[in-house]
Amino acid sequence: MFALVPPTLLLAASLVNGQTTASTAAGGAASSVTTAPAAAGTTVATGAADAGAGTWGPAITNAPTGAPSYYSYGTPNPQAPGVLAKFPNGPTNPERPGFYPIGAQVNQTSLSRLLSLNGVDDFCMYGPMEPGPDSLIGNVEPSVVAYCTQPRNGARLIPDGTIHSAHVIKTPLYVQIHGFWDGTRINIPAGDTGGELDPHGEKNEGNPIGGNVTTNLATGQDTFYEEWMSFVSFDQFCLRICTAGTDKVNSGLQCEHKLDIMGCRFVMAIPDLYSTNGTFTFCEGEPAAPPGLYPLPNGDFSTFRQRWTDKNNPPQYTVGDLVTPGAPAYWPKTSNCQTFSSISNGIDPANFLVKSAPTVHVSGSGSAAAVTGLATTTPATVTTPSSVIATGKPTDAAASSGASGASGASGANTASRAGESAGASSKPSGAGAVAPISALVVLVAAAAALF
Ligand SMILES: *[C@@H]1O[C@H](CO)[C@@H](O)[C@H](O)[C@H]1NC(C)=O
Ligand SMILES: *[C@@H]1O[C@H](CO)[C@@H](O)[C@H](O)[C@H]1NC(C)=O
Ligand SMILES: *[C@@H]1O[C@H](CO)[C@@H](O)[C@H](O)[C@H]1NC(C)=O
Repeated sequence: MFALVPPTLLLAASLVNGQTTASTAAGGAASSVTTAPAAAGTTVATGAADAGAGTWGPAITNAPTGAPSYYSYGTPNPQAPGVLAKFPNGPTNPERPGFYPIGAQVNQTSLSRLLSLNGVDDFCMYGPMEPGPDSLIGNVEPSVVAYCTQPRNGARLIPDGTIHSAHVIKTPLYVQIHGFWDGTRINIPAGDTGGELDPHGEKNEGNPIGGNVTTNLATGQDTFYEEWMSFVSFDQFCLRICTAGTDKVNSGLQCEHKLDIMGCRFVMAIPDLYSTNGTFTFCEGEPAAPPGLYPLPNGDFSTFRQRWTDKNNPPQYTVGDLVTPGAPAYWPKTSNCQTFSSISNGIDPANFLVKSAPTVHVSGSGSAAAVTGLATTTPATVTTPSSVIATGKPTDAAASSGASGASGASGANTASRAGESAGASSKPSGAGAVAPISALVVLVAAAAALF
């Protein structure tokens, strides 16, 4: 996975990572600098809470394919309590998901935190607001912002070439996506093993605060859902949105968000993760068992909960299990897979102008079509090329490139309330972790810009 990074940079990256990881501990999530994918077939260490954070998670042993015959997840109910979002949308998000109008300039300093997952080439993930070594996901979880593969949601754009693979699975209880990417293109520091994002967070306001999600895959309509979870790191991403509950499994369980060091493969039950780089698929599938739950023949579950000690808020307490299971209950079966050769938005990252209607793959049909019915705006006048890779101090960069953005870009679809900007979410959350900017760090940032 480091194929493109020269060895000197690798060293630099791990130094930077090691330096800032020490301060990450204050954020609660234990982490260590392990990026190697776990080899299948090894057993898992005990004491999971200190075993290393990130998208890769611990080593995973084999699991059976397909749910055991005695497991019934119940009858999916899209109206079950806790499925549809009931509370307000985040203050920096547009009212509803939608594409930028034709002629607009994608706002690469947007604070929109609205993710959508509509297909293999139409989805969003969270990434840091600013580039730089302090933007380790573990430091900036409350303030990450949305980056989308298409110009949508008033959010920032994921430049073409960033996504190396993407695999969408639609099940009766959730939709999910996983893939590999060059996360440095959306401000994730090189080598950052990443972290977990979800709608809860310390104050139950979400991580990020004001983060919200939609998908149209369950109902055919853009729908806001309450429960979701996502892992992002410099080389990998995954997101699950829970779209139905049952009498047996509610959407909170199916989108369990407290297994934040277990990684994409375990939590999202991805059997073939290590061989999925370079490919793009859309599949249907049976639901996985809720993360950490193991169906028993008597209809109950046995439960694994990640061990965690609260070191920040006295009185300290510890919850969870000492032994980490080697695998999820089973690898869910998939069916009706469509394969796509690549994904692209065609937008020039020199100016981020939306010159024509986006073309998106129509999920399930295997073909691509231009989005119709989009508004058109007076073509934006680009005075300064906007870029996700800023130099100098993060706050200055955001302020200045925001100010230089083209005013013509503010179409009906963009984040019209972005100016309100949630105070809490824009405060630098890693303030205690500011490391001196050394030549080494600059080197890494510059290298990140190249890849
Ligand atoms: C996935 O493939 C891309 C393109 O070959 C490569 O640059 C990247 O390092 C790979 N990612 C991983 C995690 O192996
Ligand atoms: C937005 O996210 C918050 C925090 O998770 C949630 O309570 C609220 O219901 C969500 N609103 C929408 C419209 O999705
Ligand atoms: C881009 O987003 C930032 C942050 O919300 C905002 O201040 C700025 O006005 C936006 N730019 C445009 C052109 O809409």
